[in-house]
Amino acid sequence: MKKALILAVFFTIAATAFSQNKRISIIPQPAVLREGMGTFTIDANTAIVVGSNDPEAKKVAAMLNIELKKAAGFSLNIENAPRKKSIQFLLSPEEPLGNEGYRLAVTPEMISIFAPKPAGLFYGLQTLLQLMPKEIESKEVVKNISWTVPVVNITDRPRFGWRGLMLDVSRHFFTVDEVKAFIDDMARYKYNLMHFHLTDDQGWRLEIKSLPKLTEVGAWNVKKTGRFNYFSTPAANEPRDFGGFYTQEQMKELIRYAKDRFINIMPEIDVPGHSLAAIASYPDLSCTPGTYKVNSGEPIMDWHDNGTFTALIDNALCPSNEKVYSFLDKVFTEVAALFPFEYIHMGGDECAKNFWEKSAEVKALMQREKLKDMHEVQSYFVGRVSKIIATKGKKMMGWDEILEGGLVKDASVMSWRGLKGGIEAAQKGHEVVMTPNSHVYIDLMQGDAAIEPIVYSSLRLKKTYAFEPLPEGIDPKLIKGGQANLWTEQIYNTRHMQYMLWPRAMAVAEAVWSPKQSRNWNNFVGRVEDHFGRFQQADRKYAPSMYDPAVKVSKDAKGNLLLDFESEIDGLTVHYSFDNSFPDYHYPAYGRTSIPVPVDAAPIKVVTYRAGTQVGRMMTISVEDLRKRVK
Ligand code: ACM
Repeated sequence: MKKALILAVFFTIAATAFSQNKRISIIPQPAVLREGMGTFTIDANTAIVVGSNDPEAKKVAAMLNIELKKAAGFSLNIENAPRKKSIQFLLSPEEPLGNEGYRLAVTPEMISIFAPKPAGLFYGLQTLLQLMPKEIESKEVVKNISWTVPVVNITDRPRFGWRGLMLDVSRHFFTVDEVKAFIDDMARYKYNLMHFHLTDDQGWRLEIKSLPKLTEVGAWNVKKTGRFNYFSTPAANEPRDFGGFYTQEQMKELIRYAKDRFINIMPEIDVPGHSLAAIASYPDLSCTPGTYKVNSGEPIMDWHDNGTFTALIDNALCPSNEKVYSFLDKVFTEVAALFPFEYIHMGGDECAKNFWEKSAEVKALMQREKLKDMHEVQSYFVGRVSKIIATKGKKMMGWDEILEGGLVKDASVMSWRGLKGGIEAAQKGHEVVMTPNSHVYIDLMQGDAAIEPIVYSSLRLKKTYAFEPLPEGIDPKLIKGGQANLWTEQIYNTRHMQYMLWPRAMAVAEAVWSPKQSRNWNNFVGRVEDHFGRFQQADRKYAPSMYDPAVKVSKDAKGNLLLDFESEIDGLTVHYSFDNSFPDYHYPAYGRTSIPVPVDAAPIKVVTYRAGTQVGRMMTISVEDLRKRVK
């Protein structure tokens, strides 16, 4: 079976490379794909056939009509009996394809999607849409297109059952419609889990009926423009009217919308750190009650060079205060009633302990409970939270800091500081989701800081594509899957959200869906470029960062600066100038040797071409900035 799969994958890659404009470009790469000869053409006389009365199967089939109506201007009759010139959606429990697998067969006469479960039909539909001309992504009717689908045979199922994308709506709030668009984009790439980061220092985003101040006070801060984390402290008279929250009715609507697309929503209530919005609403929850304001992007933490940090403002719930646990009981009662998903995420990350350390009540708690350090205090807190969550009938997940001070029984771990926390948790028999910041933190810059909006550091597409959720020697049953995380400190609107998501979220989708042995960087890049064409049709933004080089600076023996340019894709030439003029393809091209920076150089300008066409963006870096980059 394995050998057949490998052969099929090679066949796919070869077929993709040799057919030119009409190449099949499916992301994530299907497990088995055999390309044939000819095409099926969808027109107004084609029928959709749903071979069962299953309401979910019918819903999936109707989704094809929504896409056709939008881009092709017609929709298809939905019928029950098989016939030629139809697109069949067939629930077939006998197909050994698991809960999410499907088989898609296209012949010149018929398209058939077989799946044991409706989710498989849905993923078959996503693949079918990707087989159609890119104009299917258009928001308006496109005329004079033949809606052809290549003859193909696909058998497909995911490698992992947890294919997550996290959206932070606390740092910046996104409306119900904006979140629905995010869910639509997830579904295209066969993600099945949206991790909703609903609370943080900058906003509490979910109505909790028994605690109304959480959204009366906690959902609002002051609108600032510029660079988040460096904003000035708001004055007392600046209006606190920026932000928002989801009512429970709106959240139910989002849960339903996601479920129709076979996506679960996992809520995260991030405690005990990152809790300033809750504390601003109910100041008694901190160990240092006082007057607190929801953070508006002004500095809140001091990050030290050795990786430790202290809070400038007390943003942690107080572990020695019983009111905190009755507060959390109320919160988790409502959260558990609202979200059908089996897990609740309780955060647990980056909790500054400096205010706990000064608290006499925390000291008394440590003596009473025999806790020897602040890690054990946090572990005590996590243990209390886990009991609350268990009484609501849910499983608890937390960021990997919940390992510190002892991992509580039955907790699942989301490993973000690399894979090591996940490995440790799995070795102890706990369930794990891998989300290492080294590979899947898609809030980080996608290329060189000279061209990208500044975030903490860079994470290029090629590295994201190398994400491997399953470490060697670890029980695969305990690694539930992987997830990309989109933190939104520096994401101020949905256009930039799209820019940060794509194409790296395509790379993660492939890492969690496709067979490991089918991973092929050059082949992936070709498919990504085809998908860029689809994004243009959809008027969806993406980052072209893979065309830009990373600029590396070193020094020769005499202390002169040397430059190198690292491209992550093949076939590009990097042209540069040192005289502040705009380089084009007649300018010097970077070869294999480092380029000395002339003593009197003006800012360097760099741009990438491919076969005479500009593909990269013009980058400019001052000599002073180059000098700063040398260690
Ligand atoms: C995290 O990135 N603080 C989980």
